[in-house]
Amino acid sequence: MKLAVVGSINMDMTVTAERIPLKGETLLGDSIHYIPGGKGANQAVAMARLGAEVEMFGCVGDDSNGEKLLENLRKEGVGTRHIKVLKEVPTGIALITVGENDNTIIVVPGANGQVDQIYADSIKEELKAFDMVVLQQEIPLETVHDLICFCAENGIKVILNPAPAAKVPLDIIEKVTYLTPNEHEAVLIFGEGETTEELLKKYPEKLVITQGSRGVSVCRKNGEVLTVPARPAIVADTTGAGDTLNGAFSVQIAKGEPIAEALRYANTAASLSTEKFGAQGGMPTAEEVERELKRNEEKIG
Ligand code: RIB
Ligand code: NA
Repeated sequence: MKLAVVGSINMDMTVTAERIPLKGETLLGDSIHYIPGGKGANQAVAMARLGAEVEMFGCVGDDSNGEKLLENLRKEGVGTRHIKVLKEVPTGIALITVGENDNTIIVVPGANGQVDQIYADSIKEELKAFDMVVLQQEIPLETVHDLICFCAENGIKVILNPAPAAKVPLDIIEKVTYLTPNEHEAVLIFGEGETTEELLKKYPEKLVITQGSRGVSVCRKNGEVLTVPARPAIVADTTGAGDTLNGAFSVQIAKGEPIAEALRYANTAASLSTEKFGAQGGMPTAEEVERELKRNEEKIG
């Protein structure tokens, strides 16, 4: 089973403070950390930690951040030979503020903005060798949409995690195997006219809506809406929890697991990831997820 992630690779500059600042306010923070991030890279790392064979596609700049990020991906066991190192642009950066209860993120795409049509065309032959392609929206949307069309034409399963939020054209929704927005992204994509349940019923076993600590929902083929509740966590940092969920879900689906089990697994993985600082900090191994699932079963049983 081979998975490909085409997406962003960022250096996260994370500042911790008692809370996030109000508009126009200056606060004193506690610490600053430079940690590997980017929705694409995070999802690839989540998959690799869970034992999947995963290749990362994207771009970094020819600078020390780029070097560190490539090194980090290799250390995590993610394939990097298709990542382009670009001379004329800096590596992507995310400025993150982590307060006690929430965070804010500003992404400066840099090299991620160069994951363009030319790059997409250059990797298409390679992508044919993968069982599944996973995409987010931190690279140009034209690239994302073009690759989804390509995957659909070539019978490659494709998961779109529509984050950060942006409209997804209807024909693209038709072509993806799974679409995994959170509630806010779902509102942006579908508008406010329909309830979560109505939306899910429109796209059975395709639309997966994550609802943070309230869990994750999908509609089965038989029309029944299934909500997998979240595992309670002692939260240190929710940055990257969605990436962990998407990475874990992709691995389980690529393995052929039924959707209910895949979501239960992904939810547990995401929850575990929030207990440690940093997007990739706390992303669990397969062993850790299985141990936790078993512990919960014992509690229930
Ligand atoms: O999803 C979390 C990620 O979003 C961070 O790692 C940051 O790089 C931003 O892209
Ligand atoms: Na974390």
